[in-house]
Amino acid sequence: METPGGMLNAIGLQNVGVKAFIGDKLPWLRQFDTKVIVNIFGETLEEYGRVAAALSGVDGIHALEVNISCPNVRKGGHVFGCDPDASHEVTKVVKSATDLPVIVKLSPNVSDITEIARSCEAAGADALSLINTLLGMSIDIERRIPHLKNVTGGLSGPVVKPVAIRMVWNTVNAVSIPVIGIGGIMEAGDALEFLIAGAKAVQVGTVNFVNPRATMEIIEGIEDYLARHGIGDVNEIIGSLRTE
Ligand SMILES: Cc1cc2nc3c(=O)[nH]c(=O)nc-3n(C[C@H](O)[C@H](O)[C@H](O)COP(=O)(O)O)c2cc1C
Repeated sequence: METPGGMLNAIGLQNVGVKAFIGDKLPWLRQFDTKVIVNIFGETLEEYGRVAAALSGVDGIHALEVNISCPNVRKGGHVFGCDPDASHEVTKVVKSATDLPVIVKLSPNVSDITEIARSCEAAGADALSLINTLLGMSIDIERRIPHLKNVTGGLSGPVVKPVAIRMVWNTVNAVSIPVIGIGGIMEAGDALEFLIAGAKAVQVGTVNFVNPRATMEIIEGIEDYLARHGIGDVNEIIGSLRTE
């Protein structure tokens, strides 16, 4: 559902499964001259390991991104990414199951994201990406029922951007591995905020629902900004935030 400045979704993580992804989806993706990063998840440590192993050595996959915002069914449904030890364990399991670069995608639904970030770094993560959606809820006051059947959902879009920028900035100051910024990027200026805060790259999610050309426009907008400021290399702006 739409919320002011964003959306609240409870679509879950339904997908075709790892075998059908390799057999049916990947051949189409291979035609493009770009890197393919596959986002994976599991409900147990073993499942994360099995999925990571199944995708390793497969032509056309360049890195894995591990969604740790998933409930661990063996630990009473406690979300992996909300606990530093569980985040460490899942990172280790995936790292030992694959030779691909491993990006661990952090949940913002924690009190100190830097603690989780450090835990994943210590377990061997090659990079971190953040943020995943913020837990949210909305109520139909006439019927006094939740708008989402699931009761709670994931909040994304422009409304989460200030939270995401803050978390990215905190995280880049806490770890030495690269950080990928995500959350509410609609246009080049938003992406630039993440880069200036220290993100080495960005991802765009929700904007694709309203503007499928957003990624190309954001790239062009960053190029225009660099030209306008006489900057030859985008790396010059990464982490260039001045706080005084
Ligand atoms: C419809 C939808 C589906 C998503 N599916 C996934 C997913 O499968 N795995 C994951 O790690 N994050 C998933 N996300 C989270 C996004 O990748 C992103 O982290 C978050 O939405 C914040 O970025 P945005 O504001 O640009 O969308 C999903 C988000 C949305 C809105």
